[in-house]
Amino acid sequence: MLKTLRFRQNCNSVQTRFIAVSACFVLLTLFTPVALEAKVVNDDDKPILPVDDLPAKISTNKVPMGFKTLPKSPADNPTTEAKAKLGRRLFFDPILSNDQTVSCASCHQPKHGFASPNTVAIGIGGKKGTRNAPTVLNRGYGAAFSWDGRDASLEQQALGPLKSESELGGDVATVIQNVKKDAAYVEAFASVFSESKSDTPEESVTLENIAKAIACFERTLTTGNSKVDRFRNEEYEALTKEARQGLWIFESRGGCWRCHNGPNLADDEFHNTGVGFGMKDRDLGRSKITEDSSHKFQFKTPGLRDVEHTAPYMHDGSVKTLREVVEFYNKGGAPDDPNLDKQMKPLKLTDEEVGFLVEFLKALSGDAVK
Ligand code: HEC
Ligand code: HEC
Repeated sequence: MLKTLRFRQNCNSVQTRFIAVSACFVLLTLFTPVALEAKVVNDDDKPILPVDDLPAKISTNKVPMGFKTLPKSPADNPTTEAKAKLGRRLFFDPILSNDQTVSCASCHQPKHGFASPNTVAIGIGGKKGTRNAPTVLNRGYGAAFSWDGRDASLEQQALGPLKSESELGGDVATVIQNVKKDAAYVEAFASVFSESKSDTPEESVTLENIAKAIACFERTLTTGNSKVDRFRNEEYEALTKEARQGLWIFESRGGCWRCHNGPNLADDEFHNTGVGFGMKDRDLGRSKITEDSSHKFQFKTPGLRDVEHTAPYMHDGSVKTLREVVEFYNKGGAPDDPNLDKQMKPLKLTDEEVGFLVEFLKALSGDAVK
């Protein structure tokens, strides 16, 4: 754009004006799409603050098609409508960051499948993390959380960003003070969490209760009823011929089902697919948590529902499109990686077959809350 501007400043002679104006126009049209695209994925950008334009009422008891049960909530944090509503307000509210500029939704953007379009997370003051922000959709069905599985529940997970200096800023005392200044919050916390009449309403505003309310809301963020579910439910025309071929490859020669299985297409286990092989300071993944060297470079298998909306992919956001993901698997991940999962093998798929798998992955998009 700088070039365009300089060029424009030189456009002062009458003779050259016409040519110059047309040239400027051509340059502008050439540059505009790039500029627009850059705005969506610009890694130097400040965090954005998505507004809550989800449906007014989000069901707390709708089992998505493709699943048999609702997400299970822990005994000490049962799902209720009032709690989910409180969690929803908190999820979108930058009040949870030190300087009120970042919310959970900044990195888990509803319009981006509740994931982030940035390669790695961008938090408070533009601080960069080291990993890509994954989706929170259907995480209520998960058994382990974060790429390395360090969190055992959504409640525990939510404490992570609240305490993180690079995400929400980590000044928990200030955050709680700010929430307590808001009368509507105090009233909602008290009515949802107050256990004894002797508690003052403010006493219900605690870090633990913030995490509980958000986790409760997250359990209502589900997606199901994809074309693949409908196909499996005998609505055969729901899938195109290409997507059906892709389903077949996924479940046979592709070997994808070995790790991406169950209703969420994830085994909730940890594997090294070779992502990051050969990189300096490669992320150790699971072994950082377990301190077991056999877990080196392993990451949690992500679910694949609505995956077409959540690019870029993998724990480091290194893969930009679904086609590139499938091409990565086609060559066997990183065949030279000595720590590679034994189930990773070159697949010898043709270009056309790679396309079939991509069509199948796209058919996993459902009626997510969005
Ligand atoms: C600055 C960006 C950022 C913000 C803000 C943020 N997250 Fe995240 N979130 C991430 C990243 C990055 C990960 C992956 C972390 C890892 O694996 O180390 C993640 C992981 C998660 C996961 C686990 C998903 C899975 O597949 O296991 C959940 C759930 C989640 N975040 C919810 C939240 C909630 C709730 C908030 C607000 C309290 C929040 N996040 C704020 C970036 C962010
Ligand atoms: C050995 C287990 C395993 C196999 C086999 C496997 N995956 Fe994966 N998949 C994973 C893991 C683990 C990740 C995350 C890797 C990382 O980030 O380092 C992943 C990531 C992905 C992602 C990116 C999702 C996201 O949100 O970033 C897609 C898409 C995907 N796999 C599709 C497939 C397809 C298609 C196949 C078959 C061709 C396949 N996988 C085979 C374990 C596996």
